Amino acid sequence: MVWGLRDIVLREGGPRMVIFAGKGGLGKTTSSAALAYAAALAKKKVLCFSTDPQASLSDIFERNIFGKGEVEVAPNLYVVEIDADAKVGAYIEEVKQRIKDMYKLEEIPPEIEAYIDSSVAEPAMYESATYDAMADYLARGDYDLYVFDMPPFGHGIRMLTMADVLTSWVEKLTEVREKAREYDEIASKLKGERLVKEDEILNELKQIRDKLTTFTDFMRERTKSAFFMVMTPEMMSVHDTERALEAFKSIGLSLAGIVLNKVLPRDFHSSPSPYISYRYRQQESVMRVIEEKFGDLVVAAIPMFPREPKGLDGLREVAKHLVDGVTKLW
Ligand SMILES: Nc1ncnc2c1ncn2[C@@H]1O[C@H](COP(=O)(O)OP(=O)(O)OP(=O)(O)O)[C@@H](O)[C@H]1O
Ligand SMILES: [Mg+2]
Repeated sequence: MVWGLRDIVLREGGPRMVIFAGKGGLGKTTSSAALAYAAALAKKKVLCFSTDPQASLSDIFERNIFGKGEVEVAPNLYVVEIDADAKVGAYIEEVKQRIKDMYKLEEIPPEIEAYIDSSVAEPAMYESATYDAMADYLARGDYDLYVFDMPPFGHGIRMLTMADVLTSWVEKLTEVREKAREYDEIASKLKGERLVKEDEILNELKQIRDKLTTFTDFMRERTKSAFFMVMTPEMMSVHDTERALEAFKSIGLSLAGIVLNKVLPRDFHSSPSPYISYRYRQQESVMRVIEEKFGDLVVAAIPMFPREPKGLDGLREVAKHLVDGVTKLW
């Protein structure tokens, strides 16, 4: 059995993309940052990426990097925190400009403008902006390893299915545009005109689709991407992880492993505080359930630290457990 992420992620020929999924607040950002730092120490050029509006990576690396592009926070370790709201805003402006150009308008009619503006609030817009940014970084291929820290809603799994939704959407549109183009060509031939010039919109749609397809193909390949679920030793997290595993299966993604975070230390067992020893016994019973349900899927365990792990020193401490699996905690 593999214990610790080093053998899974940092081995020769390991995956180039790692995603930590899981419910809010259980340790996705902490795990992403710790793995990214450990990979950089192992001489990989790493990009740790997030779109969290709470700027959690800024917080954990103790540097203000939000919306600043790729920032090198340690040798080989680059961190980028996308301002997804700003990206959505820019995208909306671009759409408006295109409509103006296409219809040769000075101003967009107010009712259409209101309609476009209202789509800013759509979660789908936020997610596609995020996806777009992730796919762009991956397509550029400047790094040995990409660690994507998922935002704090859902499991990050809805984000993953978003690529599928967008792909089918773009495919449908492409199909419609291609049909229209065939008719255009026939019509212009009949009129004896030369063929219509390259359809710019269609080209653009194809580019989006190709980018997304490359990205989703990449995600689905076990040798290229590794997904980890982060959970805690609590029954609520067990149920939630079970549901997430189902969701993963239904979209054809296999899990590289489960990371158990915030494991209470063993010496809590004999604590003079009845509260603490009770909590520990509770954890022990949940651990039995976890072993029974998830067994070998659990590949690492991180103890509950007395303080929030922050900064490079804090992350090194997390990485000892997450990446090198220094101890089995129970
Ligand atoms: N092993 C640990 N010991 C102590 N504190 C921890 C541990 N792991 C995470 N924390 C703390 O728990 C909080 C949530 O962790 P983190 O931000 O990594 O979770 P997340 O899954 O990224 O949350 P979100 O879904 O909101 O993005 C943070 O304050 C973090 O410092
Ligand atoms: Mg987070």
